[in-house]
Amino acid sequence: FTVPALQNEPVLDYAPQSSERFKLKEAIKEAKAHVVDIPMFIGKEEIRTGKKMEIRPPHEHGHILGYYHEGDESHVTAAIDAALAAKQAWGDTTWETRAAIFLKAAELFAGPYRYKINAATMLGQSKNAYQAEIDAACEMIDFLRYNVAFMSEIYKQQPVSGKGVWNRTDYRPLEGFVYALTPFNFTAISGNLPASAAMMGNVIVWKPSENQVYAAAVIMEVFQKAGLPDGVINLINVDGPKAGEIIFSHREFAGLHFTGSTAVFQTIWKNIGNNINKYKSYPRIVGETGGKDFVVAHPSANPEVVSTALLRGAFEYQGQKCSAASRAYIHKSIWPAVKEKLLADLATVKVGTVEDFSNFVNAVISEKAFDRIATYIDNAKSSPEAEIIAGGTYDKSKGYFIDPTVIEVSDPHYVTMEEEIFGPVLSVYVYDDFEQILDVIDNTSIYALTGAVISQEREGVELALKKLRNAAGNFYINDKPTGAVVGQQPFGGARGSGTNDKSGSMLNLLRWVSPRTIKETF
Ligand code: SER
Repeated sequence: FTVPALQNEPVLDYAPQSSERFKLKEAIKEAKAHVVDIPMFIGKEEIRTGKKMEIRPPHEHGHILGYYHEGDESHVTAAIDAALAAKQAWGDTTWETRAAIFLKAAELFAGPYRYKINAATMLGQSKNAYQAEIDAACEMIDFLRYNVAFMSEIYKQQPVSGKGVWNRTDYRPLEGFVYALTPFNFTAISGNLPASAAMMGNVIVWKPSENQVYAAAVIMEVFQKAGLPDGVINLINVDGPKAGEIIFSHREFAGLHFTGSTAVFQTIWKNIGNNINKYKSYPRIVGETGGKDFVVAHPSANPEVVSTALLRGAFEYQGQKCSAASRAYIHKSIWPAVKEKLLADLATVKVGTVEDFSNFVNAVISEKAFDRIATYIDNAKSSPEAEIIAGGTYDKSKGYFIDPTVIEVSDPHYVTMEEEIFGPVLSVYVYDDFEQILDVIDNTSIYALTGAVISQEREGVELALKKLRNAAGNFYINDKPTGAVVGQQPFGGARGSGTNDKSGSMLNLLRWVSPRTIKETF
């Protein structure tokens, strides 16, 4: 067994006239020509309940891509039972065999499934080709390969033995099952949350976001093709609170691998707390939650670098990355230059469907999200503390389109500087004093996921690093705060942003084992 070399999957650029672009367009055409019928995957069964829910592209809600079958409490119980039935055999499987299955899945994503998973992500989640490629293809593949490498390192960590004594560590999977609750915004995260825990020998009940079922079904197909035994990962589509009732009161509930909103995570945590004496073991709770990610530009910052960091950080994937730049603090001496460049660049940005590859901004995920984001924009329109300097317009007649919006605020605590909006809305506060503004940044939001400082002077960088030590788990210098690459920038934050168990790192994998220390004398 050879552990893969630590290399990131090369990103395809889908240049006009390239064969990749042609193949991706074919995959999109193919996906649109068929109405899919997505079951739940429980044990060896594909379950079709007949309660069919529509799947429509957010950028074209008049089109039906397919249906998924929604389950109820009985399916949650069936999924737990299937997981527990698979547990013994999977836990007894050597780590090399488990690794080989996930490496094969990586090869399938890199090869025959690359266009299919990208097309599913584009259509189901309204993510353009470039954003789908770095997520559903590259990040997914990287998670699988890197985690296999990290896993091999974990099993190698063994204690010291001496004369007449053999000590060892048995990295047992958790006793029970792990619940993976996954988000809509990254297909790779959706695949990684069940896969990373499963890799370490655990069995999983997986509930993807109802807005990401389309790509989740492709992920499941790949895992099955790669040889994952039945019951190791069971995919259910059941209302979240309903599923939670059963999962979190189950004696064998052993861990939660979560990415989603802070509010949901906190509700779940309380629920787990209330049930704590029902469980065999204290469950592992691993979550990546919200963000209100900042960019601070020092007076020495290059205005073009600031503008690009804002444009890409705030508006790629419509600001629906948990890492998206959503509050910016720009020194007054450079704001005129930053604003001019940002507005000029925004004027060239195209908004529309993913099928036209020249569109930079696509639709937000759902009508609910659209309405929520539009309310923030409307409130800003009538607020004396806010001025909309770009965008502010939206249209849901064909798809949930919101034009990239920039709000200049006169109060650094205006609501759009503090609350997570999860859409293409950037708020900017123009400040006077760098040191003071760092304190404001640190104290403004409950989150601490990502942040960036833009500065050409080292002093500005050092001060920001020091004063914002706890304000971000991923800190960027002279770059946008998004786009962490597996193996290069382990990802996660603390405070209201999560448990900071860095996805795609050894730290994360260690949460999915319960080591047993063995001392043998002879
Ligand atoms: N890994 C993503 C990013 O860095 C967020 O989940 O943008």
